[in-house]
Amino acid sequence: MTPFLMVKDLKSHIGEMVSLRGWVRNIRTSKTRFIELRDGSGFIQCVVTANDASSKSYELAGTLTQESALVITGIVQAHPKSGEPELLVQDIELIGSSIDFPITPKEHGTEFLMNNRHLWMRSKRQWAILKIRHTIIKATRDFFDQEGFTLFDSPILSPSACEGTSTLFQTDYFHEGTAFLSQSGQLYQEPGIFAFGKVYCFGPTFRAEKSKTRRHLTEFWMVEPEMAFAHLDDVLKLGQGLVQFILQRVLNDRLEELKIIERDTAPLLLAMNESFRQMSYTESVEQLKTLGSDIEWGQDYGNDDETLLMNAHDRPLWVHRFPKTFKAFYMEQDPHDPRLALGADLLAPEGYGEIIGGGERASSEAYLLEQIAHHGLNRADYEWYLDLRRFGSVPHAGFGMGIERVVAWICKLPHVRETIPYPRMMGTLRP
Ligand code: 4AD
Ligand code: MG
Repeated sequence: MTPFLMVKDLKSHIGEMVSLRGWVRNIRTSKTRFIELRDGSGFIQCVVTANDASSKSYELAGTLTQESALVITGIVQAHPKSGEPELLVQDIELIGSSIDFPITPKEHGTEFLMNNRHLWMRSKRQWAILKIRHTIIKATRDFFDQEGFTLFDSPILSPSACEGTSTLFQTDYFHEGTAFLSQSGQLYQEPGIFAFGKVYCFGPTFRAEKSKTRRHLTEFWMVEPEMAFAHLDDVLKLGQGLVQFILQRVLNDRLEELKIIERDTAPLLLAMNESFRQMSYTESVEQLKTLGSDIEWGQDYGNDDETLLMNAHDRPLWVHRFPKTFKAFYMEQDPHDPRLALGADLLAPEGYGEIIGGGERASSEAYLLEQIAHHGLNRADYEWYLDLRRFGSVPHAGFGMGIERVVAWICKLPHVRETIPYPRMMGTLRP
């Protein structure tokens, strides 16, 4: 029997007889019939001629439709011009027919594509994006492993808020009352540093974001490293290291996919090779004003501000030291200016904006108590968290990086909905 091979491996099998299993992406029929087959690993042109194919297979090829599933057998040859492998077909077996596949090569509207997400993901562009996502996630895990972090999973169900109470999803939890879906694993990572020094979690994260923007999902994946004996500077260093490691991996392993989505790699190469820029929040407000924003010192960025600022920067930018007023309760205070928190956000260029948020954590019990009260949080919910400041408290820091934001930037997508197999947003709970 001829061996089953994957399309991606065919380069080293020129001249051999092989079988492929996959789906018809496209078909052109004239005297010779050209089937573009995809098998999940790649795409290949299969050439069906009356001379080389069995007469049954030649007939069948004339009736095939988009997304028919096939086993197709033939000889691998190099395309006379491109040198890319193609298959000179001898035999075709129809495994599953496909009638009127709804996503044709013509243009479709977003609504239609989103309603057919389960089928849309077969298209070449969506395939390429999700392959890149896979590589970004793999690179992320490899990076933390290599840097000596221990995987330390945070829970999804939680009795209290991490990132403010306005974006919590809640659910009934037996006699205990209400549980919330995790907005961030951070508070549960902090205990981990006292056991392991450097930890990270990587999981789904939920925010009841009531705004419809190109950056916000209600369910997204976040990786969150946390380090003992670390300060704000360590966050900047680790974040740059992570992003550059990811870029290197994607530019190395996913060049084909970047080509499919027609991504200009120059900005990615620049970000991979150059140190990221840094500025304080105060400086960023000054720059935003010169760019035409009406932001005032003390206000958080609007969505347009991040776009405006990051259209003016050619590489990732760290913004640090934000006003405490709009930052989370757990942030350390700037010892040089009590109005500020030692937080930092990494903003991606080409108008993308925030991909990482983090900073140094408050390490004194007294200050944390003050902040819990100030933010109107229930102290009893955080007693366990306060314990960390009672038993060997140390300076510590970490961050969260949203995977979908990174995929959107690296792939230069107009919207995060294409970065994840099943996007969840306000107004979108399908399929
Ligand atoms: O800036 P955020 O809210 O920070 C935290 O949750 C910290 N507790 C993380 C930490 O220090 N361990 O979120 C972190 C990142 C953002 O920079 C962004 O990339 C992503 O999570 N993110 C979202 N991604 C998609 N949709 C949303 N609604 C997101 N909200 C945050
Ligand atoms: Mg943030």
